[in-house]
Amino acid sequence: MAEKSFAAALNEQISNEFAASQQYIASAVYYDAETLPRLAAFFYRQALEEREHAMMMIRYLLDVGEQVQIPDVKSVSTTYADGSEPVKIALDQEKRVSDEIFSLFELARELKDYRAEQFLQWFIKEQVEEVSLMEDLLNVVERSSDNLLLAEEFIARESFGAEGSDPTAPPAADEGE
Ligand code: FEO
Repeated sequence: MAEKSFAAALNEQISNEFAASQQYIASAVYYDAETLPRLAAFFYRQALEEREHAMMMIRYLLDVGEQVQIPDVKSVSTTYADGSEPVKIALDQEKRVSDEIFSLFELARELKDYRAEQFLQWFIKEQVEEVSLMEDLLNVVERSSDNLLLAEEFIARESFGAEGSDPTAPPAADEGE
């Protein structure tokens, strides 16, 4: 039998998602201070997406009658070695979150928690997209490392990272509020 309940594991993931949101705010603030508004906007938007992931998990725990824990906030540095570093950190973070979602999925299987397994399906798809997005952005910022205005132009021209609403996304706790 698994050592951990699914609710406890998902509460940990809620903390990870809020931490990812904080990391993206720090990255956005760094680019904003460097007068790179498109890169800043990209990360401000990603920060909101991560918060939304946490709110979906909160909604799920509420719906299945489990306790929700709101995590402490840890500080994040807004200083980076160069313009590529925030994207490298973001890519590592997204890969780590993918592994965390896979572990949650394995736990749901082990516990024969079919509701949890179904809930996690969307996050598996989302992580494929987010890792791919960050890999693309890393290519772009590394290619533009001498002049990040080229990355800014690319993001604007391609509407890079702008997503429409996803009707398959799980509901968030604050939806419709
Ligand atoms: Fe919610 Fe991109 O991890």
